[in-house]
Amino acid sequence: MSKVLVINGPNLNLLGSREPGIYGATTLADVESGLRAQGGTLGVEVLCFQSNHEGAIVDRIHAARDEDVAWILINPGAYTHTSVAIRDALAGVAIPFVEVHISNVHKREPFRHHSYLSDVAEAVMAGFGTAGYGLALQYIAGRLG
Ligand code: DQA
Repeated sequence: MSKVLVINGPNLNLLGSREPGIYGATTLADVESGLRAQGGTLGVEVLCFQSNHEGAIVDRIHAARDEDVAWILINPGAYTHTSVAIRDALAGVAIPFVEVHISNVHKREPFRHHSYLSDVAEAVMAGFGTAGYGLALQYIAGRLG
C-alpha cells in the first residue's frame, strides 16, 4: 500500500481553538483521523506528523525517503512564508508533494502571499478550510492511480 505522509507545521496543533473565524472549529486530531479513515477507503496508508519546529520538520521529510513515502501532503503553517530549509528538504528527497492551506492566504496579509514551496509543489490548495486536506488526499490517490 502506498504511503502518504501528512505534515502540519507550527501552531496547527491548536486547530479548533486557534482563531476559529479563520481556521474553523475542527481539531487537528479530527483532521488526522478523518484522513486515516479516508486513506483506508482510497487504499493508501496515511502517516501523520505535526511539529512547531523547523528542524524537526526537515528531519521528518528526510526520514520519509527511507520509509518509502510516495507523496507528502504538507501544511507548513507560517514556515510557508519563511523556510528555505523546508523547501530544500522537499526538493532534496524528491518526493512529490501537495501544499495545503486552510485559509485563502491570497486574501490575507501581503506577507502570506509568497510561498517558498509553491513553485516546487505538484499542487496547491488554499481556502477550502480543513476540507482541503481531504481534497488533497483524493488528488494524491488519483495520481497514485
Ligand atoms: C496557514 C496559513 C499560514 O499563513 C499561517 O501562518 C498558518 C496556517 C493555513 O493553513 O491557512 O499557520 O498555513
